[in-house]
Amino acid sequence: MEMNCTELRRQFSQRYPGSARVFRAPGRINLIGEHTDYNDGFVMPVAIDFHVWAAIAARSDGTVRVCSANFAEEAEFDLQARTASAKTHWSDFVQGPARMLQAAGYRLRGADLLICGDIPMGAGLSSSAAIEVAVGVALLMNSDLPVERVELAQLCRRAENDFVGARVGIMDQFVSCCGRAGHALELDCRSLEYRLLPLSALINLVICNTMVKHQHAGGEYNKRRTECEEGVRLLSRMLPGIRALRDVTLSELENHARELPETIYRRCRHVVSENARVSDASSALQRGDLSAFGRLMGESHRSLRDDYAVSCAELDLMVELAEEQEGVRGARMTGGGFGGCTINLLDADAVAQFKRSVASAYEKKTGRAPQILVVSASDGAGEVEL
Ligand code: GLA
Repeated sequence: MEMNCTELRRQFSQRYPGSARVFRAPGRINLIGEHTDYNDGFVMPVAIDFHVWAAIAARSDGTVRVCSANFAEEAEFDLQARTASAKTHWSDFVQGPARMLQAAGYRLRGADLLICGDIPMGAGLSSSAAIEVAVGVALLMNSDLPVERVELAQLCRRAENDFVGARVGIMDQFVSCCGRAGHALELDCRSLEYRLLPLSALINLVICNTMVKHQHAGGEYNKRRTECEEGVRLLSRMLPGIRALRDVTLSELENHARELPETIYRRCRHVVSENARVSDASSALQRGDLSAFGRLMGESHRSLRDDYAVSCAELDLMVELAEEQEGVRGARMTGGGFGGCTINLLDADAVAQFKRSVASAYEKKTGRAPQILVVSASDGAGEVEL
């Protein structure tokens, strides 16, 4: 949805009293490190220049009224209410962070909020994390409270886990809070220590949206988590002291392969090898070796397809088509999988031809016109000045 800050303020003043401050939070792509965050592992996402905006003004009572410009719909809740539960509604992503901030001891003021966003929804680019983070920052600043970015990411993730009911890891909320323009963010999902890695200005980040989202995505996501937990349970008999797959090396896993059911072994092999790929990709990026980086992206995709089984025909096709093009350094699915987007690293002069060839070949094979977008690495959440 096209909306600039002036337009958002204008719409706000038509609906609510008071003059609004505007905050925004970005969506993300993930370069490498998929399905590792909930295994205490490593990820390398990038905040992108697609956002959720939140215009906010304080109220004198403890009510939050929130309107979504995308859904043209309003919702309301009371910050003081003792109990509240999710309604499987977009406003859960507003109420969830508000509740978690309150529970963590932040005393929030009531507010009127108007939110809108241009992150394609259901495309695996973290539009829901961006709503949570934009609202979290807006509610804190509206209450003259400090924004501790790492804590905010943790509380927004908790909102998604405990209020919305999705068992996600911390990657999406973290990069939406802490991303930096021109950089990828390498995160240790156990310690939450992170490094910002400069991205070469010569390389383009290109998203290809398959335009499909398979229905079973949520259920399969939870199933993968359970399979990983089962892997840790079985492996800990042989490797006492491990807490998560992050604590297992590839050679340890291989040594005990025969003691694991085949499916569990494969899920573990993806996670353990993917953690190693993040570390290799980080070194490659730091020495400017984009070809090595791209090869690791390809390996990551194949591991997600064959061992972790979270890809789908459309994602595999999009990656195959990309790998046939000139000037492509790497391509892989990005995000949870079962549809959504691929991320592609392209030389700057290859973009126009890539868009034409991939779009027409993909449409010819699937009957769907893909969305192909060049994105830039952007800053994490903050206030949008006038
Ligand atoms: C979704 C979740 C993340 C992460 C990815 C897979 O985007 O929200 O926490 O688990 O899937 O890497």
